[in-house]
Amino acid sequence: MPKVVPATEASIADAVARLRRGAVVAFPTETVYGLGADTLSAAAVECVYRLKGRPRRNPLIAHVTGAGGPAGARGLAAKWDDRCDALAARFWPGPLTLVVPRAESVPPSATAGWPTIAVRAPDHPVAFALLEAFRGPISAPSANRSGGVSPTTSAHVTADFADVEDLLILDGGPCRVGIESTVLDLSRVPPVILRPGAVTAEALRAILGPVESAGSHAQAASPGTSPRHYAPRTPLELVAPKRLPARIASAEGTLALLVMSDLPDAPAGGALFVMPAEPAEYAARLYDTLRAADACGARLILVERPRQQDGLWAAIHDRLARAAAP
Ligand code: TXA
Ligand code: MG
Repeated sequence: MPKVVPATEASIADAVARLRRGAVVAFPTETVYGLGADTLSAAAVECVYRLKGRPRRNPLIAHVTGAGGPAGARGLAAKWDDRCDALAARFWPGPLTLVVPRAESVPPSATAGWPTIAVRAPDHPVAFALLEAFRGPISAPSANRSGGVSPTTSAHVTADFADVEDLLILDGGPCRVGIESTVLDLSRVPPVILRPGAVTAEALRAILGPVESAGSHAQAASPGTSPRHYAPRTPLELVAPKRLPARIASAEGTLALLVMSDLPDAPAGGALFVMPAEPAEYAARLYDTLRAADACGARLILVERPRQQDGLWAAIHDRLARAAAP
């Protein structure tokens, strides 16, 4: 069984000792929980891939403190330009990951052999305290089994890794943002958003000028953005608001419904989840709700497609589309 502990000075010291001897530790960030290992230890990074069942070609994000400027990130990058400084000054610590050329000194294992490295400074007091105490970069994917729904509570991490002996999970409560960071590839001209997140395209363009959205072409540039990802095990269908009543009527078996509009009643034997109308709240609730919908025994999850498209909604649509991909 994993060991879940409240994040305290003592448990963070325990986590640091574990990281130093090449073990893996789960910790909270403002986006989702991460499964962390010492970036500079190939053996530790290998443990993350094995535990997660992650494809070996899919590189990891290195987490740094961002304290006192982007010094920690600069050390991992072969090239750190003015744009990086401007973005870090504006958005770090926060849910923005920058993909930049990897420094020679960083072991290729830290990026699955890719010539670039993804870095971000998480905006969470526990992640910050852990990084400060460890005094080095921590590579961490989301702390879920590969392809599944990302974890936004320590209970989600425990559920996914229930069979793992002695995994330390630092509990920092539910994640505030609730969906993974925006991944921005600065090694391309113009820069490309490989994964939309809470730092929106509009906010990035205000600093950088032209920025492209990789959309469906992202996969080649960022293997983690495969079409089916962030997905529950139960089949999930996205339904336009006006088609919802008819789709509910025609569905066979028990349903789990994620809706935004007023609906009659919970379907018989199924479960009804009313989602917030405000995008930050919708994002914060999304993965916990998908996990609950997945666990309620329904044959099908129907999700009412949110009407809005702009800002954070773009990232929400991205995750819903991936969850629905066959
Ligand atoms: O919010 C987050 O980013 C969370 C927390 C824990 O920080 N982490 C996270 O990691 O979502 P992960 O591994 O689940 O997703 C990282 C994404 C993947 O799509 C991966 O392919 C992409 O970032 N990525 C990592 N390094 C890359 C690189 N060098 N070039 C292009 N894409 C990269
Ligand atoms: Mg992930």
